[in-house]
Amino acid sequence: MPQINSARMLADLHALRQFGLYRTGVHRPTFSPQDVESRQWLATRFAEAGLDASIDGIGNVLGFDRSPGRKLLLGSHSETQPHAGWLDGAMGVIFGLEVARTLRQGIDVAAWADEEGHFGAFIGSRSFCGMLDEAEIDRLKYREDGTPLRAALARAGFAGRPRVAIDPARTRGYLEAHIEQGATLEDAGLRIGVVTAIVGSHRFRIVFEGVQNHAGTTRMAVRKDAGVALVRLASAIYDRFPVLAGERTVWTTGQITLDPGAPSIVPGGAEMLFQFRDTDPAMLARLTDELEALVARANQGPCRVTIAERGRSVPRAMDGGFQDAIERAAERHTPGLHLRMPSGAGHDAQVLAERVPAGMLFVPSIGGISHHYAEDTKEEDLVLGCQVLADAAADILGR
Ligand code: HGY
Ligand code: MN
Ligand code: MN
Repeated sequence: MPQINSARMLADLHALRQFGLYRTGVHRPTFSPQDVESRQWLATRFAEAGLDASIDGIGNVLGFDRSPGRKLLLGSHSETQPHAGWLDGAMGVIFGLEVARTLRQGIDVAAWADEEGHFGAFIGSRSFCGMLDEAEIDRLKYREDGTPLRAALARAGFAGRPRVAIDPARTRGYLEAHIEQGATLEDAGLRIGVVTAIVGSHRFRIVFEGVQNHAGTTRMAVRKDAGVALVRLASAIYDRFPVLAGERTVWTTGQITLDPGAPSIVPGGAEMLFQFRDTDPAMLARLTDELEALVARANQGPCRVTIAERGRSVPRAMDGGFQDAIERAAERHTPGLHLRMPSGAGHDAQVLAERVPAGMLFVPSIGGISHHYAEDTKEEDLVLGCQVLADAAADILGR
């Protein structure tokens, strides 16, 4: 079976970490200068590995094996959440590169653009899979400051380049290694997760329109306080959702803004970004109906409340045969210390799964921490994860 070069893999992982280094994590938002630099560095490393390397018109870094025959595509995303972890995404890209170098033939590698949604949902992998049209690219803007995606691509030097699309005749499947981003493996003393399915998510913007006024002279009875309307709706959601939720359903209010957001002003406006996730499409539909009913009820109050969907992803099962190959590889290297489990995080694999068979493996996250600069994984678990990925890829390729 193949033997990875763990020192080479770790060196590349730490080299990638330097692009946007922030405390023990990384700040590398999509198409930030440090992200663009890291993509150029990845393209160079892909080329040095003997791959036909390029960065396409949506910022995907692609490395194609030059030998004949069908390929297994390995990869993940290379941008990060703001001031977050050094392994989320980046690990899967470097693992893919190391497997390509180890197997020497049959492996293509990708570093997807913007899985983390700084501009839109999975725009890199969706572009590769033919699910991102020019009109959507025209519409998308950077969520922090409204910079149009077109302008960011131009500034990065990627505008005008062709966008590379999957060729199912070439690509027989996709494998992605990722940190678990939860504590299931660590709590159970396990070392490899064999992903069975990836959650879908529904994401919303809820806007509250009231009347801005003086915090001292405006009597409570006449206020149209948008902040209070937001708090009341959030409270109703958090009372009601547990009644409907399944075992692994999650829901999050990740961002709240009050307008103008000053201590002596009754907020005239408020906005909450809200999302929920599950592996069951019926559960996602049920919660969407419930949320809309709660918003309609909130709209009967003193403030106007409107909801708009910001996006959604579809839950996806991972290929059974790929799960078996990952499990065989895990059993070979860490007998009994692996687990088939769903993913509570979204991943590019759920996009690729709409075009080709897809599989994922997890390595443990220390303390289950992710989307935080403290995110980390033991070095021996990184090495094991990359070796298991190499074995599983060789197994699938029939090597
Ligand atoms: O939020 C997610 O599920 C992914 O880590 N971007
Ligand atoms: Mn990720
Ligand atoms: Mn993430």
